[in-house]
Amino acid sequence: MTDTPHCLAEMATQVLTTADGRTKTALSRQYAAQWFAARKGDAPEIPIGTAQPPLHPARPAEPALLDPREVPKRKPGSEAGRKALLHAVAHIELNAVDLHWDIIARFSHVPMPLGFYDDWVQSADEESKHFNMMCDCLEAIGSFYGDLPAHAGMWRAAEDTADDLMGRLAVVPMVLEARGLDVTPGMIEVFRKAKLTQAVEALNVIYAEEVSHVAFGAKWFNFLCGRDGLDPKETFHGLVRKYFHGALKPPFNEEKRAEAGIPPDFYWPLSDQIRPLPGWA
Ligand SMILES: [Fe+2]
Ligand SMILES: [Fe+2]
Repeated sequence: MTDTPHCLAEMATQVLTTADGRTKTALSRQYAAQWFAARKGDAPEIPIGTAQPPLHPARPAEPALLDPREVPKRKPGSEAGRKALLHAVAHIELNAVDLHWDIIARFSHVPMPLGFYDDWVQSADEESKHFNMMCDCLEAIGSFYGDLPAHAGMWRAAEDTADDLMGRLAVVPMVLEARGLDVTPGMIEVFRKAKLTQAVEALNVIYAEEVSHVAFGAKWFNFLCGRDGLDPKETFHGLVRKYFHGALKPPFNEEKRAEAGIPPDFYWPLSDQIRPLPGWA
Protein backbone atom coordinates (compact mmCIF):
# COMPACT_ATOMS: atom_id res chain seq x y z
CA MET A 1 0.00 0.00 0.00
CA THR A 2 1.24 3.46 -0.80
CA ASP A 3 0.66 6.62 1.22
CA THR A 4 -1.71 9.19 -0.22
CA PRO A 5 0.49 11.67 -2.09
CA HIS A 6 0.25 15.36 -1.15
CA CYS A 7 1.70 16.85 -4.32
CA LEU A 8 2.49 16.07 -7.93
CA ALA A 9 6.17 15.35 -7.19
CA GLU A 10 5.09 12.67 -4.67
CA MET A 11 2.66 11.18 -7.19
CA ALA A 12 5.50 11.00 -9.72
CA THR A 13 7.81 9.34 -7.18
CA GLN A 14 5.18 6.72 -6.31
CA VAL A 15 4.88 5.77 -9.98
CA LEU A 16 8.69 5.58 -10.25
CA THR A 17 8.95 3.29 -7.22
CA THR A 18 6.24 0.87 -8.44
CA ALA A 19 7.92 -2.16 -10.06
CA ASP A 20 5.18 -4.11 -11.86
CA GLY A 21 4.39 -2.73 -15.32
CA ARG A 22 0.59 -2.95 -15.28
CA THR A 23 0.46 -1.69 -11.67
CA LYS A 24 2.79 1.20 -12.56
CA THR A 25 0.67 2.25 -15.55
CA ALA A 26 -2.60 1.94 -13.59
CA LEU A 27 -1.21 4.27 -10.90
CA SER A 28 0.15 6.61 -13.55
CA ARG A 29 -3.23 6.88 -15.27
CA GLN A 30 -5.04 7.36 -11.93
CA TYR A 31 -2.73 10.23 -10.95
CA ALA A 32 -2.99 11.82 -14.41
CA ALA A 33 -6.79 11.78 -14.11
CA GLN A 34 -6.55 13.35 -10.63
CA TRP A 35 -4.18 16.05 -11.89
CA PHE A 36 -6.42 17.03 -14.82
CA ALA A 37 -9.57 16.96 -12.64
CA ALA A 38 -7.83 19.40 -10.29
CA ARG A 39 -6.66 21.58 -13.17
CA LYS A 40 -10.26 21.82 -14.46
CA GLY A 41 -11.43 22.83 -10.99
CA ASP A 42 -13.38 19.58 -10.42
CA ALA A 43 -11.12 18.56 -7.50
CA PRO A 44 -8.91 20.35 -4.95
CA GLU A 45 -5.74 21.90 -6.36
CA ILE A 46 -2.62 19.70 -6.32
CA PRO A 47 0.62 21.57 -5.52
CA ILE A 48 3.79 20.67 -7.45
CA GLY A 49 5.76 20.19 -4.21
CA THR A 50 9.01 18.28 -3.91
CA ALA A 51 9.98 14.63 -3.43
CA GLN A 52 13.01 12.37 -3.58
CA PRO A 53 12.68 10.38 -6.80
CA PRO A 54 14.92 7.27 -6.97
CA LEU A 55 17.98 7.46 -9.23
CA HIS A 56 16.64 4.34 -11.02
CA PRO A 57 12.92 3.52 -11.29
CA ALA A 58 11.68 0.23 -9.82
CA ARG A 59 11.53 -2.57 -12.40
CA PRO A 60 9.83 -5.99 -12.43
CA ALA A 61 12.02 -9.11 -11.94
CA GLU A 62 11.36 -10.00 -15.60
CA PRO A 63 12.42 -9.12 -18.28
CA ALA A 64 16.11 -9.76 -17.70
CA LEU A 65 18.01 -6.64 -18.73
CA LEU A 66 20.98 -7.30 -21.02
CA ASP A 67 23.67 -5.20 -22.63
CA PRO A 68 22.24 -4.15 -26.05
CA ARG A 69 24.97 -6.18 -27.80
CA GLU A 70 23.78 -9.34 -26.03
CA VAL A 71 20.08 -9.01 -26.94
CA PRO A 72 19.47 -11.65 -29.65
CA LYS A 73 18.60 -10.20 -33.07
CA ARG A 74 15.65 -11.75 -34.92
CA LYS A 75 14.43 -11.30 -38.47
CA PRO A 76 11.63 -8.68 -38.44
CA GLY A 77 9.67 -10.66 -41.08
CA SER A 78 9.41 -13.78 -38.88
CA GLU A 79 6.90 -14.56 -36.12
CA ALA A 80 9.72 -14.51 -33.55
CA GLY A 81 10.86 -11.18 -34.98
CA ARG A 82 7.44 -9.59 -34.64
CA LYS A 83 7.15 -10.82 -31.06
CA ALA A 84 10.60 -9.39 -30.27
CA LEU A 85 9.62 -6.07 -31.85
CA LEU A 86 6.42 -5.79 -29.78
CA HIS A 87 8.41 -6.70 -26.69
CA ALA A 88 11.05 -4.07 -27.44
CA VAL A 89 8.37 -1.40 -27.94
CA ALA A 90 6.65 -2.40 -24.66
CA HIS A 91 10.01 -1.99 -22.91
CA ILE A 92 10.54 1.46 -24.47
CA GLU A 93 7.03 2.53 -23.43
CA LEU A 94 7.53 1.43 -19.82
CA ASN A 95 10.76 3.43 -19.68
CA ALA A 96 8.93 6.38 -21.23
CA VAL A 97 6.29 6.30 -18.46
CA ASP A 98 9.10 6.65 -15.93
CA LEU A 99 10.97 9.27 -17.96
CA HIS A 100 7.96 11.58 -18.06
CA TRP A 101 7.23 11.24 -14.34
CA ASP A 102 10.94 11.61 -13.60
CA ILE A 103 11.20 15.00 -15.34
CA ILE A 104 8.35 16.19 -13.08
CA ALA A 105 9.82 14.93 -9.80
CA ARG A 106 13.51 15.49 -10.58
CA PHE A 107 13.18 19.15 -11.59
CA SER A 108 10.29 20.29 -9.40
CA HIS A 109 12.64 22.87 -7.80
CA VAL A 110 12.98 24.69 -11.15
CA PRO A 111 10.18 27.29 -11.42
CA MET A 112 8.11 26.43 -14.50
CA PRO A 113 4.62 27.43 -15.72
CA LEU A 114 1.85 24.93 -14.87
CA GLY A 115 1.56 24.07 -18.56
CA PHE A 116 4.95 22.32 -18.26
CA TYR A 117 3.44 19.84 -15.78
CA ASP A 118 0.26 19.45 -17.82
CA ASP A 119 2.34 18.41 -20.82
CA TRP A 120 4.41 15.78 -19.00
CA VAL A 121 1.47 14.36 -17.06
CA GLN A 122 -0.39 13.99 -20.36
CA SER A 123 2.69 12.35 -21.93
CA ALA A 124 3.08 9.94 -18.99
CA ASP A 125 -0.61 9.05 -19.26
CA GLU A 126 -0.25 8.34 -22.98
CA GLU A 127 2.91 6.24 -22.45
CA SER A 128 0.99 4.22 -19.87
CA LYS A 129 -1.70 3.55 -22.45
CA HIS A 130 1.00 2.65 -25.02
CA PHE A 131 2.59 0.12 -22.65
CA ASN A 132 -0.79 -1.46 -21.94
CA MET A 133 -1.59 -1.68 -25.66
CA MET A 134 1.76 -3.37 -26.38
CA CYS A 135 1.13 -5.83 -23.52
CA ASP A 136 -2.31 -6.57 -25.00
CA CYS A 137 -0.71 -7.20 -28.42
CA LEU A 138 1.90 -9.54 -26.86
CA GLU A 139 -0.81 -11.41 -24.93
CA ALA A 140 -2.89 -11.78 -28.12
CA ILE A 141 -0.01 -13.77 -29.67
CA GLY A 142 0.54 -15.90 -26.56
CA SER A 143 3.38 -13.86 -25.07
CA PHE A 144 3.74 -11.21 -22.34
CA TYR A 145 6.05 -8.42 -21.21
CA GLY A 146 8.92 -10.20 -19.45
CA ASP A 147 8.89 -13.15 -21.87
CA LEU A 148 12.12 -12.00 -23.59
CA PRO A 149 15.23 -10.18 -22.42
CA ALA A 150 15.28 -6.42 -22.91
CA HIS A 151 17.86 -3.68 -23.29
CA ALA A 152 19.60 -2.45 -20.17
CA GLY A 153 20.87 1.07 -20.23
CA MET A 154 17.66 2.80 -21.27
CA TRP A 155 17.88 4.88 -18.13
CA ARG A 156 21.36 6.14 -19.03
CA ALA A 157 20.06 9.38 -20.59
CA ALA A 158 18.04 10.13 -17.45
CA GLU A 159 21.02 9.52 -15.20
CA ASP A 160 23.36 11.62 -17.33
CA THR A 161 20.94 14.56 -17.29
CA ALA A 162 19.71 14.25 -13.68
CA ASP A 163 21.06 17.74 -12.87
CA ASP A 164 20.33 19.48 -16.14
CA LEU A 165 16.75 20.18 -17.21
CA MET A 166 17.76 21.60 -20.60
CA GLY A 167 20.02 18.61 -21.19
CA ARG A 168 17.12 16.30 -20.29
CA LEU A 169 14.78 18.03 -22.74
CA ALA A 170 17.41 17.99 -25.49
CA VAL A 171 18.27 14.29 -25.13
CA VAL A 172 15.01 12.60 -24.10
CA PRO A 173 12.11 14.13 -26.05
CA MET A 174 14.12 15.93 -28.76
CA VAL A 175 16.58 13.10 -29.58
CA LEU A 176 15.26 9.77 -28.27
CA GLU A 177 11.54 10.31 -28.76
CA ALA A 178 12.18 12.05 -32.11
CA ARG A 179 14.02 8.87 -33.15
CA GLY A 180 10.76 7.03 -32.49
CA LEU A 181 9.10 9.19 -35.16
CA ASP A 182 11.80 8.08 -37.64
CA VAL A 183 11.39 4.33 -37.06
CA THR A 184 7.69 3.82 -36.29
CA PRO A 185 6.38 3.92 -39.90
CA GLY A 186 8.71 1.00 -40.75
CA MET A 187 7.39 -0.99 -37.78
CA ILE A 188 3.78 -0.32 -38.79
CA GLU A 189 4.66 -1.73 -42.22
CA VAL A 190 6.04 -4.94 -40.66
CA PHE A 191 2.73 -5.61 -38.88
CA ARG A 192 0.60 -4.47 -41.81
CA LYS A 193 2.34 -7.04 -44.04
CA ALA A 194 1.69 -9.73 -41.40
CA LYS A 195 -1.98 -8.61 -41.17
CA LEU A 196 -1.71 -8.08 -37.41
CA THR A 197 -4.40 -5.39 -37.22
CA GLN A 198 -4.26 -4.94 -33.44
CA ALA A 199 -0.55 -4.08 -33.57
CA VAL A 200 -1.03 -1.78 -36.59
CA GLU A 201 -3.78 0.13 -34.78
CA ALA A 202 -1.78 0.39 -31.55
CA LEU A 203 1.34 1.61 -33.37
CA ASN A 204 -0.72 4.19 -35.26
CA VAL A 205 -1.95 5.60 -31.93
CA ILE A 206 1.63 5.65 -30.62
CA TYR A 207 2.92 7.34 -33.79
CA ALA A 208 0.29 10.10 -33.60
CA GLU A 209 0.74 10.76 -29.87
CA GLU A 210 4.54 10.72 -29.88
CA VAL A 211 4.61 13.80 -32.12
CA SER A 212 3.19 15.83 -29.23
CA HIS A 213 5.79 14.49 -26.77
CA VAL A 214 8.58 15.67 -29.07
CA ALA A 215 6.73 18.97 -29.51
CA PHE A 216 6.44 19.43 -25.72
CA GLY A 217 10.20 18.89 -25.50
CA ALA A 218 10.90 21.50 -28.19
CA LYS A 219 8.40 23.93 -26.65
CA TRP A 220 9.94 23.88 -23.16
CA PHE A 221 13.49 23.76 -24.49
CA ASN A 222 12.82 26.94 -26.48
CA PHE A 223 11.07 28.47 -23.48
CA LEU A 224 14.15 27.93 -21.27
CA CYS A 225 16.51 29.22 -23.98
CA GLY A 226 14.39 32.34 -24.27
CA ARG A 227 14.28 32.81 -20.50
CA ASP A 228 18.06 32.52 -20.26
CA GLY A 229 18.87 34.48 -23.45
CA LEU A 230 20.45 31.44 -25.19
CA ASP A 231 20.50 30.56 -28.87
CA PRO A 232 18.34 27.39 -29.13
CA LYS A 233 20.19 25.70 -31.99
CA GLU A 234 23.70 26.27 -30.58
CA THR A 235 22.56 25.26 -27.11
CA PHE A 236 20.88 22.10 -28.42
CA HIS A 237 24.03 21.05 -30.31
CA GLY A 238 26.19 21.64 -27.23
CA LEU A 239 23.91 19.64 -24.91
CA VAL A 240 23.42 16.70 -27.27
CA ARG A 241 27.19 16.47 -27.82
CA LYS A 242 27.69 16.57 -24.06
CA TYR A 243 25.07 14.01 -23.04
CA PHE A 244 24.25 11.81 -26.03
CA HIS A 245 26.75 9.12 -26.92
CA GLY A 246 27.16 8.74 -30.67
CA ALA A 247 25.85 10.38 -33.82
CA LEU A 248 22.18 10.75 -34.75
CA LYS A 249 21.14 8.27 -37.41
CA PRO A 250 19.40 9.25 -40.64
CA PRO A 251 17.01 8.74 -42.36
CA PHE A 252 15.09 11.36 -40.36
CA ASN A 253 11.34 11.82 -40.51
CA GLU A 254 11.67 15.46 -41.51
CA GLU A 255 7.91 15.99 -41.85
CA LYS A 256 6.98 14.75 -38.37
CA ARG A 257 10.03 16.40 -36.82
CA ALA A 258 8.92 19.69 -38.38
CA GLU A 259 5.41 19.14 -37.04
CA ALA A 260 6.99 18.74 -33.58
CA GLY A 261 8.93 22.00 -33.99
CA ILE A 262 12.41 20.59 -34.68
CA PRO A 263 13.99 22.06 -37.83
CA PRO A 264 16.56 20.14 -39.94
CA ASP A 265 19.50 22.34 -38.85
CA PHE A 266 18.98 21.06 -35.28
CA TYR A 267 19.62 17.39 -36.10
CA TRP A 268 21.55 17.12 -39.40
CA PRO A 269 24.78 18.64 -37.99
CA LEU A 270 24.70 15.95 -35.25
CA SER A 271 24.44 13.05 -37.71
CA ASP A 272 27.37 11.16 -39.18
CA GLN A 273 26.20 11.87 -42.72
CA ILE A 274 25.99 14.90 -44.98
CA ARG A 275 22.46 16.17 -45.52
CA PRO A 276 21.28 15.23 -49.04
CA LEU A 277 20.39 18.16 -51.28
CA PRO A 278 16.63 18.92 -51.36
CA GLY A 279 15.04 16.73 -53.99
CA TRP A 280 17.54 13.89 -53.37
CA ALA A 281 16.32 12.86 -49.94
FE1 LIG B 1 4.95 6.04 -26.25
FE1 LIG C 1 6.58 9.55 -25.77
